[in-house]
Amino acid sequence: MPKERIGIMGGSFNPIHDRHLAIAASALAEAKLSRIIFLPTGNPPHKRTLGLEDAEHRFEMTRLAIIREQRFTASRLELDRQGVIYTIDTLTLLKKQMPNAEFFYIIGEDTLLDLHNWRAPDKVFALCTFLVCRRITSDASAHPLVRQLEARGAKFIYLSLPPLDTSATEIRARLARGEQPEQLPLQVFEYIRLMGLYGMPHAIPNAQSLYRRLREALSDRRLNHSLLVAATARRLAALHGLDEVQCELAGLLHDCAKCIPLAALQRIAREHNMLLDKETLANEALLHGPVGAVLAETLYGVSDMSILAAIRCHTTGRVGMLPIDMALFLADKIEPSRRPYPDLLEVRALAETSLVAAMLRSLRSTQQYVTRQKAPLHPTTQRVIAWLERLPVTIKERST
Ligand SMILES: [Fe+2]
Ligand SMILES: [Fe+2]
Repeated sequence: MPKERIGIMGGSFNPIHDRHLAIAASALAEAKLSRIIFLPTGNPPHKRTLGLEDAEHRFEMTRLAIIREQRFTASRLELDRQGVIYTIDTLTLLKKQMPNAEFFYIIGEDTLLDLHNWRAPDKVFALCTFLVCRRITSDASAHPLVRQLEARGAKFIYLSLPPLDTSATEIRARLARGEQPEQLPLQVFEYIRLMGLYGMPHAIPNAQSLYRRLREALSDRRLNHSLLVAATARRLAALHGLDEVQCELAGLLHDCAKCIPLAALQRIAREHNMLLDKETLANEALLHGPVGAVLAETLYGVSDMSILAAIRCHTTGRVGMLPIDMALFLADKIEPSRRPYPDLLEVRALAETSLVAAMLRSLRSTQQYVTRQKAPLHPTTQRVIAWLERLPVTIKERST
């Protein structure tokens, strides 16, 4: 049986950004790896003076950034160990855990020229092959030091990714100014906002405890989706003059009941004497909306009625829905990780300029899909389409 080829990507990931992901993707393809383990470093002494965020936050950001790539995993191996951790210790541990694997350690060219200073370099060379990512314009592979290292048994594979200087320092500086660096995955940026990391002001009161609770209630993919819906709803709010914090919070919590089995959703609906039609009660894809609103109020402490109403109707829409309801409904449909569906690009484009037009396109798309499947259309969807079609243009874009 061929050995499993495992990439190792160490780093402080302070924060993880697109360049890290591009390097990992390049390593995966070019070295034909089966998977890559991301190893965020733990908290060194005096971390604050280095501008290093807490290890748990760096680990969570790493986890979120790679959540959708099944061949990437985040490991707590270096995070949970005390004191200075040398690569030889990490590699020895990994080898013990996976004796039949072949390891590929991903490094930058600057690290390559420092390898001889590592602890027990010869043992490290015996345990892994280095995948070298270009960082400087001159070619490090021609450096005399590299020849010496190869003579000692070091093995190098050079990745073809062109050099690109992505500075985490610059990313942190932009975050401190309240900006959104384009090199950050959206869900990582949303996490940073919620947690108030790198000097970003806290946007949502109590966001840390909301996030912790949500993390326990949702699958990883659903959590990722919720962060992306929160970010997208906030962007739609900014575009359409709505309350950004309301929309962001509605986005964050909209699927808080999504991972609850149907029988438990029905029990919650009964316990709260919810008046629901039989189609909604029989279908978890619909029922998690109204039950989610109840949980947002009772478990997550949301008292803002407009946020609760938006969560309640995010699965079907409602006649008389307000712009915040539309912003959430649409954010759910167009967030960047949505699997493509026929009208996605059109709905996305319409949402930039008109919530009503985007709602109509989205609901008609659902209507066409349901008709093709020869399934009955939920009566609310039908009524909402008719209501949106009757809206005079002047009212269509009114903000309240
Ligand atoms: Fe949902
Ligand atoms: Fe959703």
